[in-house]
Amino acid sequence: MKVDLHGSRSLRNRLMLALIGGAATLALLLFFAIRNYAAQIAQHTQDTILGASATSILDAAVVWNGAVEVDIPYASFSMLTTPMDDRVFYAIYQNDTFLSGYPELAIAPIAAPIGDRDNRFQTIRHQGQDMRVVTASRTMIGQDGRMQVRIALAQTQDALSGTLAQISRNAAIFGTGFFALAALLSFWATSTTIGQLKRLTHSVTRRGPQDLSPFKKPVPLEMLPLVRSLNSLMARLDHSLSQSEDFIAEAAHRVRTPLATVRSYAEATLQRVDKKENRDAMRAMMRAIDESSRAAGQLLDHAMITFRADHLERQDIDLVGLVDELVLRLTPIAEMKDLTLQLKSEGAVHYSGDPILIQNAVRNLIDNALKYSPADGVVTIHVSGDPRPKISVCDNGKGFPKDEVGALPTRFKRGSNSEGTIGSGLGLTIAMDVATAHGGNLQLSNQEKGGACALLLL
Ligand SMILES: Nc1ncnc2c1ncn2[C@@H]1O[C@H](COP(=O)(O)OP(=O)(O)OP(=O)(O)O)[C@@H](O)[C@H]1O
Ligand SMILES: [Mg+2]
Repeated sequence: MKVDLHGSRSLRNRLMLALIGGAATLALLLFFAIRNYAAQIAQHTQDTILGASATSILDAAVVWNGAVEVDIPYASFSMLTTPMDDRVFYAIYQNDTFLSGYPELAIAPIAAPIGDRDNRFQTIRHQGQDMRVVTASRTMIGQDGRMQVRIALAQTQDALSGTLAQISRNAAIFGTGFFALAALLSFWATSTTIGQLKRLTHSVTRRGPQDLSPFKKPVPLEMLPLVRSLNSLMARLDHSLSQSEDFIAEAAHRVRTPLATVRSYAEATLQRVDKKENRDAMRAMMRAIDESSRAAGQLLDHAMITFRADHLERQDIDLVGLVDELVLRLTPIAEMKDLTLQLKSEGAVHYSGDPILIQNAVRNLIDNALKYSPADGVVTIHVSGDPRPKISVCDNGKGFPKDEVGALPTRFKRGSNSEGTIGSGLGLTIAMDVATAHGGNLQLSNQEKGGACALLLL
């Protein structure tokens, strides 16, 4: 059953969006914070100088013949010089009477006395220009009593605006740099986080179909519950699979023994039957019994192979010795069909694997060669260890049916050339499973000069 899963929005995109969005907000906040702070400091500096200038002018005021006279010191204006040549205006009042300066500097509303020598700052718009104005006053004692001297001193803000523009530009560059760096870091952080997930997915997909062993590689804490449930799922699956394998093996075993008995009875009966149609029926019966016991035997082998492949125990073996033993055992069967078994090798081939599994696989390949090639042929078995251990079994029969080669190693699959031969379609499956359990595979091909070749790569 194939289930189509639809992923909701990508986790990676969501993470990236959240992190980059956060970085953009932070960069904007940083930009405005720097600009405001710089504006405050610049304004404060201008105010300090304006205040000092106003104070120095007030300090120069003297009472002469009952009237206030102010001889403005040169330093009062020179300290206000800016790179942008900002213009300066002033107006001096004795009580409410204009004494000197720039009468249009409307200080009346802002010049309410706030106490002796108190400075008060304000930004006004005058003649289409922003100006910073300081107002200050000083109480003086003359012959006629107390009088108040007040001054309003104003300066345009061209230099200040220039400085602010420059600071804004720098803050913008800084903010953009910060954003770019944060975006890069977000990308990196997202990639490493998603990388962990990808690694887990990889190790799940890379597993062979038989591999139900638990994951042991370390995973991040957050992924532990997922991996634990995966492991428990696989343990349950493994358990139920081995239960069904056990069941098949038990069933095959129980069928095989009575079948052998039935076959010997049938053989004995055949000797006693004379009528042709009865003899034919007996032969068909014996053939069916052979088919069934072959199937039971192969099923039993397959179950054993599956079990051993799941719990692979490797031993150091010499592949040539192992196959030689098998060839000796099978030679009588080959001779019955006038076939020759020929083993080729260049010295011992040492390998670490399960000898029972490997022998079973090779036996099935030789068995096929004997079954599907004509009498008087030669079956060549070649064992070599270079560059990796491999065993090939080639015959000079008709070869594998061309358009079926890919499907032959599937369970119970028999080729179109198998008609008339006894078999269950499990031999190549067993060989393939053995190769896979050892980390190799099974390759089937036909030789150019004719004949099938099965290559067991370990
Ligand atoms: N040497 C060979 N030459 C030609 N065809 C072959 C050869 N070996 C296998 N085949 C084809 O591949 C099919 C599958 O082989 P496999 O060994 O799996 O099953 P089987 O021989 O039919 O039955 P069994 O389980 O008893 O071995 C065979 O039915 C046959 O068609
Ligand atoms: Mg076979």
